Formats: sequence, C-alpha cells, structure tokens
Amino acid sequence: MTKIRRVRKAVLPVAGLGTRFLPATKAVPKEMLTVVDKPVVQYVVEEAMAAGIEHFVFVTGRNKAVIEDHFDIQVELDDTLRERGKSAELKSLEDMLPKAGATSFTRQQAPLGLGHAVWCARDIIGDEPFALLLPDMVMRDQAGCLSGMVDLYNKVGGNIVAVAECDPAQAHKYGIVGKGEDLDGGFRITQMVEKPEPGTAPSNYYINGRYILQPEIFDILSKQERGAGNEIQVTDAMLKLADQQPFSAYQFGGETYDCGSKAGFILANVAFALDRDDIKSQVFEDLKNMIAKA
Ligand code: UTP
Repeated sequence: MTKIRRVRKAVLPVAGLGTRFLPATKAVPKEMLTVVDKPVVQYVVEEAMAAGIEHFVFVTGRNKAVIEDHFDIQVELDDTLRERGKSAELKSLEDMLPKAGATSFTRQQAPLGLGHAVWCARDIIGDEPFALLLPDMVMRDQAGCLSGMVDLYNKVGGNIVAVAECDPAQAHKYGIVGKGEDLDGGFRITQMVEKPEPGTAPSNYYINGRYILQPEIFDILSKQERGAGNEIQVTDAMLKLADQQPFSAYQFGGETYDCGSKAGFILANVAFALDRDDIKSQVFEDLKNMIAKA
C-alpha cells in the first residue's frame, strides 16, 4: 500500500469578483464581509487551523490586499489594546493569527475560474496533498469539517470531497456525487456531476466547498479548458483525476452556509449570532417578534 502523505497546506482562493454581492464588494472583498464580528475568511482559516493545517496559501487578486493585512500583526492596534487593558480583544487577535511565515499570497491576475485559481498555487504547494477550502462557504459544526476530512483521509488516502445533503429538488444547482461503498465517516464516490439536469442527479449529496486533493491535479489543471460559465472549473479537473485515483466523500454532519449568496450570508449571521452567549437572547427575542410580524 502506498504511504498516505500528511496534509499540511491549504489553498484559499480569494480572487473572485463577488458580483452577486455588489455593491458591497466593489471595494471590500466578499471574503471580508463579516458574520457577526469576524470576516467570513477568518472562520475558514480557523477551521483549517483546527484541522492541523500549517501553511495557508491565499490566491488573491486586485482589491484583496486587506485580506493580507487581516492575517498580519497590527502593532499600533495591539499597543493601544494593551494600554487600555483590553486583554480579551488582544487574545482574540493573537489566536486567529497564523504563525510567522505560515501564509503565502499569490496573484491570480485574472479571475479565470476556480480551477485556474487553484492552479496558481502549484509552486507553493509543490508535490504534496493539500486542502482546498472555498472561503465563502462557512461551516457550523463543533468538530470542524476539515478535521473530519483529515481523519477520513488518514484512513483511506486518495482524494476527499466533503458532501452535505440537499433538497433533491435543488440538486440541479450543485455539484453532486454518486454514492458507492460505505466508509467510516463517508463513502466511495462513483461519479461526480456538475449541476445535473433536474431529476437526473445520482444522489442528493452535494459538494460543499472543502476538498483534499493530490498534487497530480495541477498537471491536469494546466491543460484544463474552460467549462461552465466560460471558466476553468476544478470539478472538470477532478473528473479527470478520478480516472487515475480514488475519490471518497466525507459526510459532513454540520451546517453549510454559502456566504457568497445573500440569503446564505444572512442565515449565517443569524445562526452564528444564536451561538453567541453575549447576543443570543436579544437576537432570539427580536427575531421571534420580527417573524411573527412578517
Ligand atoms: P465563486 O464563483 O463563488 O466566487 O467562487 P465569485 O466568482 O467571486 O462570485 P460571484 O458569482 O461573482 O458572486 C468561489 C471562491 O473561489 C474564488 C472566489 O473568490 C470565491 O472565494 N475564485 C473564484 C477565485 O479565487 N478565482 C476565480 O477566478 C473564481
């Protein structure tokens, strides 16, 4: 059996234009929009940290420099917080910070699609398996979606895709996988279909924005032609890789919020607010009254 190599690095593609969120995203990257009091991308970095990721590769574009600043120390701010005795705020800033040298930023230059964004990370990832996290998909789960994926990967190797269940009537909006042999925490994938015609989906398990991929994907991406939406798609490259290597699904039991869509973003704010001891009761009561009146 071939040795299962450890997943140490993660790619976070943040170069998209976020057109569904205009005008908010004209000058502010959509990955920096806040859910309660944290930028969306910070939830995803924390999920990756909890899964043992040691190096974070951000694929960025124009107008995204603020993401780099967010994951750096702000000396004046830290000094001011210290002077004012705001130790809890200071600690929360320290806890979210990747270690010095543990982040890399590379430019996609033109938003040619997710597959192209991933390919832009090839030199920094090198010849090792890596995690891919779509930073606008925020997971709500005690254990963390990527941690569960890494556990499954350490048992079965190959490539892992996280899946969640969707309403079968909505399956045509997603990338859907076919279910094969059961695994501990997931199953073997028999097929992957991007946005199947209504009524033809092989299951209601949709790909929810977390992947563990082997580096052979980069060779395939380098030759990958444009697909749906005239963009270079990572799913098209995964389908080719699936001819050479196994793909398994990790069945994610938590909630997935698509913060790249308006409704998903609002729902994420409500859900995470209800998790917060400091604001839960007020949000809950006001929400109940608001719904009663709607
Ligand atoms: P999306 O397709 O959701 O992002 O890509 P988008 O293109 O910014 O969104 P809309 O449809 O215009 O509103 C998922 C993730 O992949 C990144 C995005 O930044 C987002 O985090 N992405 C997408 C890139 O980095 N490069 C691309 O060319 C496309």
